[in-house]
Amino acid sequence: RSTWRGVVEEYRDRLPVTPDTPVVTLLEGATPLVPAAELSARTGCEVWLKVEGANPTGSFKDRGMTVAMSVAVGEGAKAVICASTGNTSASAAAYAARAGIRSAVLVPQGKIATGKLAQAVIHGATILQVTDGGFDECLVLARELSDRYPVALVNSVNPVRLHGQKTAAFEIVESLGDAPDIHCLPVGNAGNVSAYWMGYTEDVAAGNATRRPRMWGFQAAGAAPLVSGRPVPHPETIASAIRIGNPASWALAVAARDDSGGVVEAVTDDEILRAQRLLADREGVFVEPASAAGVAGLLAKSGRGELDPGQRVVCTVTGHGLKDPQWAVRDGVEPVAVPVDAVAAAAALGLA
Ligand code: F0G
Repeated sequence: RSTWRGVVEEYRDRLPVTPDTPVVTLLEGATPLVPAAELSARTGCEVWLKVEGANPTGSFKDRGMTVAMSVAVGEGAKAVICASTGNTSASAAAYAARAGIRSAVLVPQGKIATGKLAQAVIHGATILQVTDGGFDECLVLARELSDRYPVALVNSVNPVRLHGQKTAAFEIVESLGDAPDIHCLPVGNAGNVSAYWMGYTEDVAAGNATRRPRMWGFQAAGAAPLVSGRPVPHPETIASAIRIGNPASWALAVAARDDSGGVVEAVTDDEILRAQRLLADREGVFVEPASAAGVAGLLAKSGRGELDPGQRVVCTVTGHGLKDPQWAVRDGVEPVAVPVDAVAAAAALGLA
C-alpha cells in the first residue's frame, strides 16, 4: 500500500495506545509475504515466507519497538534500555534516535553480530558489553536498572512490545484471507511466538479469521530450554540471535504451543545453516542464521514424515542476512579474476 502509515497508525484500535500517544515510527510493517516455491515442492505444502528482514532496521523487532517507544515517550521517558542479542538493540537505538531520546543497550560481549553492533553505534546508543554473562544475565541487569533508575525497559517483557509484534499475524490473515494451518518460526526469548499467537487469537475473536494455526517453534539445539523443559545455563549456537537459555516469555510460549496443538523442537546449527543457504540459493531470500531456524524445523519435520502435505504453512524469517554476513562467506570467497576483456570474461563464464 503506498499510503502505509506504520504499525501504530494502521492498527491503533487494536494496540494499547491512546489518541494522545505520540507516534514514533519508521513506517515499519507491511512486510512481504512471499510464496516459497522450493519449500513448497520439497514439503508438498503451500509454503509462504513472512520476510521480516524488510522492516526498517532489518528485523521484526521494529513492530514492537514502534509501540514500546511511542508509549515510553508518551509517558515522558527520556531514556530507554534493553538487553539484546543484537536486533532489539539495533531497533531500540534507531527508534530512540527517531524520538530524540537516549538509548542504552546491554549486550553479551563478543556474542552479537557485527552488523547489529554497527546499527547500535551509528544510531548513537550507549553500549554496555557484559563481560561475564550472556543474554539472560543482560536481561536481569536491564530489568534491575529500569526498576531502580529513570529509564524505560523496551524488552519484550514490556507487554506493549508483544502487541506491536502481533500485527504480523494480522497482516498474514489479511493477505491469505484466513490463518494458515501451521506457523513456523525461530524461538529465543519466546516473545515472538507468543505475540503471533495473541495476534491470531485476536483475529478469530474479531471475526477476521475462522481458525488459528498450529504454532511450530524451533530453538537451536544448544539453546533449547523449552525443548528440555529447563533453563540452559550456558547456551551455545552460531545463531547468536537465539542464544538464550532462560526465555522471559516461557509460560506464554508453552501456552501458545499447547493451546495450538503445536510443538517447540530443536534444530542443529548445521540444519540452520543449510536452511539459510537454501533460502538464499533457491528462494532468493537472504536471512540471518537464527531466522532460518523455522525453515530448518519445517524441513526436518517434513523429512521425518511429521508434516501432512497439502497444508498452508507460513514461516516467519525474522531478520536480514546482511546483519551477520560471516556465515554466508564462511567457506571463503573465490571470485574469478578477469581483465577488462569480453573474450576473457566470456571464457571465465564458460560462454565461449
Ligand atoms: N530471530 C531473530 C533474528 C531475533 O533477533 C530473535 C530475537 C529471534 C528470532 C527470536 O525471537 O526472542 O521473540 O523468541 N532476538 C532478541 C534480541 C532476543 O535481543 O534481538 P524471540
